[in-house]
Amino acid sequence: MTAKSILLKDFPADLRIDRMPKHVAVIMDGNGRWAKQRGLPRIMGHRKGVDALKTLLRCCRDWGIEALTAYAFSTENWGRPLEEVDFLMTLFERILRQELEEMIEENVQIQFMGNLAALPESLRLEIDRAMGKTQSNQGIKFTVATNYGGRQEILQACRAIALQVQKGNLQPDEIDESLFEQHLYTAGTPELDLLIRSSGEMRVSNFLLWQVAYSEIYITDTLWPDFHRDEFHRALVNYQQRDRRFGKLESPSTKR
Ligand code: IPE
Ligand code: IPE
Ligand code: MG
Repeated sequence: MTAKSILLKDFPADLRIDRMPKHVAVIMDGNGRWAKQRGLPRIMGHRKGVDALKTLLRCCRDWGIEALTAYAFSTENWGRPLEEVDFLMTLFERILRQELEEMIEENVQIQFMGNLAALPESLRLEIDRAMGKTQSNQGIKFTVATNYGGRQEILQACRAIALQVQKGNLQPDEIDESLFEQHLYTAGTPELDLLIRSSGEMRVSNFLLWQVAYSEIYITDTLWPDFHRDEFHRALVNYQQRDRRFGKLESPSTKR
């Protein structure tokens, strides 16, 4: 154990502190199947999924991870039955209201990313309140992707950059990766190191399409409401065994 790992709460002894991911993202999939297996309505799976997210956020915070990004609602999820969409929007609003004080106390900086203008107004107000009250927090950066689509994110960045070119503030040959990243929702967040997907689907479902370029991907069959601390621990052990070559023949640094 290193001195720093002793400072972190309940840090698993088999993890290496110097190989922890800085930024973890999660596709929280399988709520509906979890409920169906138990003969419950799908919404019960969503409700239970909130507990799994709270556990994950706490682990990330306790174990020194700088940023957690969670996929809560995709631009494609509007195609679900109206009752389910309505339930989810109300659930997000209620959870935000319930959890805000604790997030402030725990120094969490909460953010939302996606096309937020299309969300119900009452939810937008809660989002603005939560982001405003936690923006100066210095702890973990917790981003909830809501009405988020990776293609939509890239398009909005293109539009913003095109506008700068049109105004004459930018030359096309000045557009490089670093400038482009400044126009993504994840600007200012560390590179995405680890993408986790629950419930076994082998796809990214329009999540973080740009950012995933060299992320490690971990997929588990566990359904999201059953994704507990042990499962996250397993994902981290697996991540630390990966050889991240970034297209080269050796890892740039075993310290990552
Ligand atoms: C993920 O669980 C939550 C959201 C997409 C909001 P699902 O609702 O997709 O659950 P499955 O995939 O149908 O089991
Ligand atoms: C991805 O899950 C979106 C979220 C977890 C919010 P979906 O259930 O919507 O994805 P598909 O339909 O299996 O690709
Ligand atoms: Mg699903």
